[in-house]
Formats: sequence, C-alpha cells, structure tokens
Amino acid sequence: MDSALGTPAPEVGATRRSYLGWLTALCTAAAGAVLSVPLVRFLIYPMQTQTTEVKWSDAGPVSELQSITDPVQRTIKVEQVDGWRKSVLDKVVYVTKAPGGQLSVLSAVCPHLGCSVQWSATKHTFVCPCHTAVFQTDGSRVSGPAPRGMDSLAAEVQNGRLMVRYQYFRQLVPTKEVIGQVGAARKETRNA
Ligand code: FES
Repeated sequence: MDSALGTPAPEVGATRRSYLGWLTALCTAAAGAVLSVPLVRFLIYPMQTQTTEVKWSDAGPVSELQSITDPVQRTIKVEQVDGWRKSVLDKVVYVTKAPGGQLSVLSAVCPHLGCSVQWSATKHTFVCPCHTAVFQTDGSRVSGPAPRGMDSLAAEVQNGRLMVRYQYFRQLVPTKEVIGQVGAARKETRNA
C-alpha cells in the first residue's frame, strides 16, 4: 500500500520486526544469564572453598603400639576430598618409637621419587626398593638419592588410639614441603 494513505511503508515494518526480534533475543539472553547463576555457582563451588578442617585417621590402639621395638607398618584409611568427589584411600605409614618411648608416624612415601619405603628388620633400617635410599629408624636419611629423610606425619592420641593426619609432600627437594592433605573437609568462605 501507499504510505501516503496512512499505511506504514515496507521499510518501517521491517525495521519494527527487526527491533522486536532484537528485543526478544536480548530478553532471552538476560533471562538465560539470570537462570544460569545458580548453576555456575554450583560448578565453581569447590574453587571457592578452602581447607579448614582435617580428619584424623586411626593407626590403632596406643596400648598395642607402646610395646613395639621396631617400626611397624600400618595401613590407614584416609578420606580424600577432590572438588565434589570424596573417596577413601588406603595409605601406608610406619609407627616408630623414640628411645624415650614417644610414638611418631612416618609416611612410607620416599621423598626421592615416591616409591614405597620398606622396613628391613635384618638391616634395621628403612630401605627404598627403587634406588636404595636408606633411612634410620627415626626416618632420618643415611644414604642414597633421597634429598631428605622420611616425612613425619602429625599424630596424637585420641581416646586411647593413635590418630594420624596424612599429608603429601613435595619430592626431590631437601626440605619438607606440604603439597596436599587428605581427609580435608571443605567449608565455604564466601557469604551465600
Ligand atoms: S624413589 Fe626411593 S630412592 Fe628413588
């Protein structure tokens, strides 16, 4: 129709449709963005948290361990928290007794390249089977490529049981550096 008779020109109609199309797309995008906020927060939750609490693993009754003369191997159960996933892992540790009778706990992970250190009752030392690093009863380094002694773990007596806080340590460095711990419970640090 002729625009002179009051009917909108074709260009005006097309412009209006185009404008409505853009407006609809904009509203849809805005609604999508608003609705996606809870999903995004859910997905990034593990990155917004920090470790604030550590669970202890049971290494056995102190009454039994107090009678040891050589280091004894214990397999402890530790809970690993990795983002949303939780798993329970078996970890090998050694309980040793100092001359004064105090119990301590050593990680069996070799600080060289991570092999599992073994106690040799005949040699009365710890020996790593991979590259023959040797450690004393208290975990201190004797020889071999390990850059430091065996790593001690925090331990304490709770209700008559020796409880251990398992941790991972950096390998190939001369000083003990924690690089992670298992059994960590996470707690949100931001306001909800
Ligand atoms: S991994 Fe133990 S000595 Fe190399």
